[in-house]
Amino acid sequence: MMEKIRKVKTAVIGCGRISNIYIRNLKKLFYITDLAAVCDISEEAAARQAGFFGVDRVMTIDEIADSEEIELVVNLTPPEAHYGIIRRMLHAGKHVFTEKMMATDLAEAQELVSLARERKLYLGSAPDTILGAGLQSARWYLDSGVIGDITSVQVCINRDQVLNSEMSAIIRQEGGALPYDVGIYYIGALIMLLGPIASLTASGAVAPVHPAEYFFRSEPGDKWQIPGFNILAAALDFESGVIGSVLFDGNTVNCEQHRFAVFGTRGILLLGDPNTFNGAVTLLLPNNEKTVLPFTHGYNGKNMVDEPRAFDGYGNRGVGAAEMAWAIRTGRHNNRCSMEYGLHCMEVLLGMDRSARTGQKITTTTRFAVDPLRSGYYSEGARGRGDAERSLME
Ligand SMILES: NC(=O)c1ccc[n+]([C@@H]2O[C@H](COP(=O)([O-])OP(=O)(O)OC[C@H]3O[C@@H](n4cnc5c(N)ncnc54)[C@H](O)[C@@H]3O)[C@@H](O)[C@H]2O)c1
Repeated sequence: MMEKIRKVKTAVIGCGRISNIYIRNLKKLFYITDLAAVCDISEEAAARQAGFFGVDRVMTIDEIADSEEIELVVNLTPPEAHYGIIRRMLHAGKHVFTEKMMATDLAEAQELVSLARERKLYLGSAPDTILGAGLQSARWYLDSGVIGDITSVQVCINRDQVLNSEMSAIIRQEGGALPYDVGIYYIGALIMLLGPIASLTASGAVAPVHPAEYFFRSEPGDKWQIPGFNILAAALDFESGVIGSVLFDGNTVNCEQHRFAVFGTRGILLLGDPNTFNGAVTLLLPNNEKTVLPFTHGYNGKNMVDEPRAFDGYGNRGVGAAEMAWAIRTGRHNNRCSMEYGLHCMEVLLGMDRSARTGQKITTTTRFAVDPLRSGYYSEGARGRGDAERSLME
């Protein structure tokens, strides 16, 4: 049956660091995507990736826009370039899957969503770690009632984002502070598991100005400050009545202490790092030892394709684009990492920002639904890659 399905001709725009895993997966891991071209503002970067991964064509943005062939564009440029590229590609009639966030501003993201709806095009957004084995299994166990009625949730992540900003230009720009760069994986996981957040309040603190003392960079002179809040703490009211507590702290050290605990009337579920595909799901019941539960879903982050580069920790990135490609090909309307999901992630994060600045309680307006993937498929089969892609078809 698989052989009869026409693959979705895909182009990647943005050939930087994260493109390694995307290009590899869109070319080799997923059946549904046919990665036909790569593109970058730096032709050299695009040519390098095309050569390394054996992609047939390097195209310019204009050539992609004018191409009759390319159906899906995967946007891996820095957040500041997202709005312009997505808008251009939607106007050109292309479906778009974008790295987070869709835009740096909610009004611009809403404009993109309206444009996609008007043009009847799919627009999808990362984070797609919500489709990984760890978070899909957590959803399956929560939906099965294993901890009873869910009462509250707590998440926390820390990093030294100031030190990290020496190494990554993206972190020095808008969208680079910890709540945006990493916190968004927690927001994505929270809303996929527990539904929309109706209202929130937050407190925040900015990053210190980076001193002109360099460890990883040697250019003397210039100082910088990561824009926006580098610490955000928030109290969340989910539409379901669940209460949530969030802490993102980028002004501390890099030994990550990610915490993700879902509390219920009959037990507690501890989850792993939502920035990965294989976070362990651990159950605590009254009077029992902690029990690690088996994964119920595929996409456990393991590298199932021969590849000389190491991709540890990045696992199955691109699965959101592949799931959307299946939706495009079959005419299904509920692609999981949808524009509505991406928009709600943004509204919650930007709402925290606004609440921290103004002291106001923020009520959200956007809504979304993420259907769970069907369980019972595997990342690994007897001869390597398993049948997990079947879970993306319906
Ligand atoms: N690096 C990571 O670990 C990581 C992880 C998850 C998500 N992301 C997200 O992926 C995106 C890219 O991140 P990255 O780390 O690969 O960045 P990067 O800076 O390494 O690469 C970005 C690439 O985009 C190109 N580019 C910039 N503007 C462009 C334009 N207008 N048109 C075409 N190409 C353009 C740059 O030349 C560069 O090659 C960001 O949205 C980031 O938040 C990165």
